[in-house]
Formats: sequence, structure tokens, C-alpha cells
Amino acid sequence: MRHVWLLGILSIGLFAANVVQVGDKYKDSGKCKACHSHIVAQWEDSWHAKSHYGNDEYFQKTIDYVARKDNRKSLNTIKIECATCHNPRIAVTSTNAEYEAIAALNLDKDSAASKALRSDTIAEGINCVVCHNIDQIHDELPADKRGMNRVTWMKSGTMTGPYSDAKSPYHKVEQRPFMDNNPNQLCFVCHANDTSEEGLRFVDMQSEFKNSGKACVDCHMGARKEGIAATLRDANGQPHKRLIREHRFIGGHVENMWKDALKVDTRKNGAALEVILNNPQPHALPSGFGSREILIEVQYSGGGKVIKNEALSITTRYLSKRGKPTVPHLAAKIVQSISIPAQGSKAFSLPIPTGSDGATIVVSYRLVNDEIRELLELKDPIWSKKMVIKKVSVKL
Ligand code: HEC
Ligand code: HEC
Ligand code: HEC
Ligand code: HEC
Ligand code: HEC
Repeated sequence: MRHVWLLGILSIGLFAANVVQVGDKYKDSGKCKACHSHIVAQWEDSWHAKSHYGNDEYFQKTIDYVARKDNRKSLNTIKIECATCHNPRIAVTSTNAEYEAIAALNLDKDSAASKALRSDTIAEGINCVVCHNIDQIHDELPADKRGMNRVTWMKSGTMTGPYSDAKSPYHKVEQRPFMDNNPNQLCFVCHANDTSEEGLRFVDMQSEFKNSGKACVDCHMGARKEGIAATLRDANGQPHKRLIREHRFIGGHVENMWKDALKVDTRKNGAALEVILNNPQPHALPSGFGSREILIEVQYSGGGKVIKNEALSITTRYLSKRGKPTVPHLAAKIVQSISIPAQGSKAFSLPIPTGSDGATIVVSYRLVNDEIRELLELKDPIWSKKMVIKKVSVKL
């Protein structure tokens, strides 16, 4: 009975992304190793390679948490929603009420959705055939259509890339501007418009982006430099020399990328110490996923002894529709939102204890703030690791 009733009220279809099956010859990065082994090795190091449920503790525990709190949707339905950007080559792109009814009875093991989630096509997360098999990016669509809902795929076996004159014996090639002179368009397919189950847009790297002449790839894939795109030798017995970029997509998880990411100035203002953070980057910091954090820690000293420690957390906090602290993906409301805007600055004021004659200020970054780390019981030390941006000492 419940079955039929659910079907009746919930049959409004979700926007269906088009699915093009990836052929066995191309579906995993192992298939590219024979000729692009250097690129595969760099990509394996990147967090794009970890964007799948099985490979990122934070992602996995967030999905589990959302599924526990949202009793209208099954775990698999949430996984498929998140796959929009985290696993866009998944073969099933939405579920319906009929599926929810079956899943609620634990009878969905052999369903298309369960099979698609188990498939090894998606186990690598954002792999080569996510970016290099896109035919068109549809920026004419509404802003909330992202990931697989914003692109149409190439025929399996055609790779899009930056070169107009490449030839490969293994696959066809086609050049696309989003692989060459307009690469931000590719990044914004997913790095924009992150929205909660309650419809709250919690991050939008596209609207906060200030064009400075540098594209995402200039900083996160490095400058173009001479190298080779493929190790395969041509008729002259040599691989082609090409201008290439790195595929490590270095970002928030990599400590040495944070060094000097912000400029830190200090100023004494009466009985307060002002710490001014300047962000030269073209997007806000923290940005990207919600619940990231920048920490300002100050140690005051006087007469050679430590007098006091002060700390300030620069982060965003979220409340659920019941008013409880929650993860960004269940947020109905933002209660505290601090970040340093793109190419902007912010000043933070801390009281100077009497008797201090100096202070050491350490500005660092953490991937997950205390509130969310405790809520999700994250175990891996990477989530709480303080990555140092800048350390300065001042006389007071
Ligand atoms: C997140 C998207 C993304 C993923 C994932 C990705 N690439 Fe790329 N790749 C790019 C972009 C963007 C360029 C163009 C760089 C430029 O501006 O020259 C590129 C360039 C290339 C090139 C041309 C040479 C070079 O390095 O610039 C080859 C070959 C290539 N990629 C192969 C691969 C292989 C193999 C994989 C999987 C191991 C992969 N790519 C994964 C985005 C991606
Ligand atoms: C048998 C060797 C071989 C294999 C295997 C191979 N490629 Fe290539 N690929 C090449 C060659 C050769 C080129 C051209 C290089 C050049 O012109 O500098 C190329 C070029 C490319 C380009 C750039 C295309 C352009 O027009 O800019 C991309 C992207 C690419 N390959 C992706 C892949 C991916 C993804 C895989 C795995 C699914 C793969 N390749 C497997 C040999 C191979
Ligand atoms: C298909 C969707 C998609 C596309 C296209 C995409 N990304 Fe990502 N990107 C993601 C997801 C999802 C993550 C988070 C993965 C994780 O942490 O598990 C991510 C993570 C990152 C990170 C963070 C890495 C870290 O160490 O913190 C950087 C930097 C990044 N992407 C840059 C880029 C750039 C540059 C482009 C464009 C060339 C791009 N991405 C294109 C989805 C995408
Ligand atoms: C001028 C260089 C520069 C450009 C251009 C740039 N970034 Fe960044 N980005 C940085 C730096 C520096 C950081 C901080 C250190 C880090 O996480 O890599 C950062 C951080 C990030 C992070 C982690 C954010 C956080 O606060 O946790 C993501 C995701 C990211 N960038 C994506 C992008 C995307 C997508 C684009 C293009 C729209 C882009 N970046 C353009 C320099 C740049
Ligand atoms: C609009 C595309 C998009 C969708 C849909 C999406 N994500 Fe993401 N997600 C991203 C991007 C891009 C990043 C990388 C941002 C960064 O590194 O700061 C990311 C990063 C994350 C991270 C941080 C991972 C890390 O290693 O630090 C978590 C957790 C996460 N997403 C959870 C989810 C969950 C849960 C869902 C589904 C309810 C979801 N995402 C749906 C684009 C998306």
C-alpha cells in the first residue's frame, strides 16, 4: 500500500543527465599508463582521485550523516546525488519513489542504482574520462545544474584536450577551448554552487571569483612548461615535445601550498593587537567546501615568559532546520560566516594582556573545524592538522 502511495506523490522526475557508458578500454587510469604514466602518477596523488565514497573519510562520513538525518532518502539516493560532481560517470543519475520504497525494505541489492554504485567505473572518482571525455559544457543552463547535469559526453574513446594536432593510436582526439584558453569553465562545472538539502547555497567559487588574469589551472596545475604529453615515440623515434601542466591539482590538503597563501600584517591599536589578513588569491579563503578554518593563534610574552595564549577561529558554522549545529549539506541557515574575500583583507582584534612586551602570531589552516570534526567523529589526523600559512613575531 505504502508503495503505491509513495509512487503517486513523488513521481515528479528529477532532471535526467544523459549517460554515455565508458568503454572498458578507457574507464580507468590504468588504461592510460602505457603512454601517459607520468600524468597518471601525478593524478593518483591528487584529491580528485580520492573523491569517491570509499576513498575520503570526510566525504563518506558526511554522506552517512546526511542519510541518517534525512529520513526521506536512502543512503544510495544521497550517494547518487553527491555523485553529480564526485562521480559524474555513474550510470544511474537519479532515483525515484519506487526505488525508495524498495530500498526501505532492503530489497534493492539487484537494482540498477545499487549496481551502478558498486561499479568499478566510478571507483576512481574524478578520473581521466571525467575531464577528457566532456564534449560540451552548458553554461546556458540554470546555475544549480552542475557536474554531470551541466555537460554532454563525447563518444567513448574520443579524448578532448588542449592540442589541435595530436594523434594517438589508442583513442581519437579533439581540441576544446575549456582544455586550452578557457579552462575555468571546466573547473566551474563542479567548483561552484554547492547547495544543501535545504536549498541553501553554502559556497560559490564562481560568483566570488575575481578575475586577475590567472586561471585556476595556473595555480592548481602549475604554469605550462616544456615536457611530453605521451611517452609514445613517433616515426622519428622521439616523443613529441609539448607544453604541459601538472595533474596534481594541489590545494587545501597540501601543506606547502598554504605557505604564504595569505599576507599577515600586525598593528598595535591601544590595548589591542590587530592582525590583518590580506588575501591576494582570486577566491575567498577559506573557500571551497564549508567548515574549512583559518586559525590565528597568539602567544603573548613578557620578561622572557609566556603570559597568555589567545586563539581566533575564522570559519563558517551551520544550523539545521531544527536549529542544531550541522554539516554544510544539511544547513538551513548560516550562523557565522567569516572568510577573507578574494583580493581583500580583514582585520581581527585581540586584547593585549598587561605586562606583555612581545607576541608570536601563527596563522594556520585546518581542513575541518572542531565542531564538524566532533560531529562526524573524523579519525584521520589530516582533518585537524594545522598547516602553517605564516608565523610572525612582534614587539609590543
Ligand atoms: C579535473 C580535470 C582533469 C582530470 C581529472 C585529468 N585531466 Fe588531463 N588535463 C586537464 C586540463 C585542464 C588540461 C590542459 C592543461 C593545459 O592548460 O595545457 C589537461 C591536459 C592533459 C594532457 C595534455 C598534456 C598536459 O599535461 O597538459 C594529457 C595527455 C592529459 N591531460 C591526460 C590525462 C590523463 C591520462 C588523466 C588521468 C590520469 C587526466 N588527464 C586527468 C584536466 C584534467
Ligand atoms: C598507446 C598509447 C596511448 C594510450 C594507451 C593512451 N594515449 Fe592518450 N595520447 C597518446 C598520444 C601519442 C597522444 C598525442 C601526444 C602528442 O601529440 O604530443 C595522446 C594524447 C592524449 C590527450 C591530448 C589530446 C589533445 O588533443 O590535446 C589526452 C587528453 C589523452 N591522450 C588522454 C588519454 C587517456 C585519458 C587515456 C586512457 C584512457 C589515454 N590517453 C591512453 C597515446 C596514448
Ligand atoms: C567533475 C567535477 C570536478 C571538476 C570538473 C573539477 N573538480 Fe576539482 N574537485 C572536485 C571534487 C569533488 C573535489 C573534492 C575531492 C575530495 O576531496 O574528495 C575537488 C577538489 C579539488 C581541489 C582541492 C584539492 C585539495 O588538495 O584540497 C582542487 C585544487 C581542485 N579540485 C581544482 C580543480 C581545477 C583547477 C579544476 C579545473 C581544471 C577542477 N578542479 C575541476 C570536483 C571537480
Ligand atoms: C593566483 C593563484 C590561484 C588561482 C588563480 C586560483 N587559486 Fe585556488 N587557491 C590558491 C591558494 C594559494 C590556495 C590556498 C592554498 C591551497 O589550498 O592550495 C587556494 C585554495 C583553493 C581551494 C581550497 C580552498 C579552501 O579554502 O579550503 C580550492 C578548492 C581552490 N583553491 C580551487 C580553485 C578554483 C576552482 C579556481 C578557479 C576558479 C582557483 N582555485 C583559482 C591559489 C589560486
Ligand atoms: C556542485 C558539485 C558538488 C556536489 C553536488 C557535491 N559536491 Fe562535495 N565537493 C565539491 C567540490 C568542488 C569539492 C572540493 C572543494 C574543496 O576542496 O574545498 C567538494 C568537497 C567535498 C567535501 C570535502 C572533502 C575533503 O576531502 O575535504 C565533502 C565532505 C563533500 N564535498 C561532501 C559532499 C556531499 C555529502 C555531497 C552530497 C550530499 C556533495 N559533496 C555533493 C562539489 C560537489
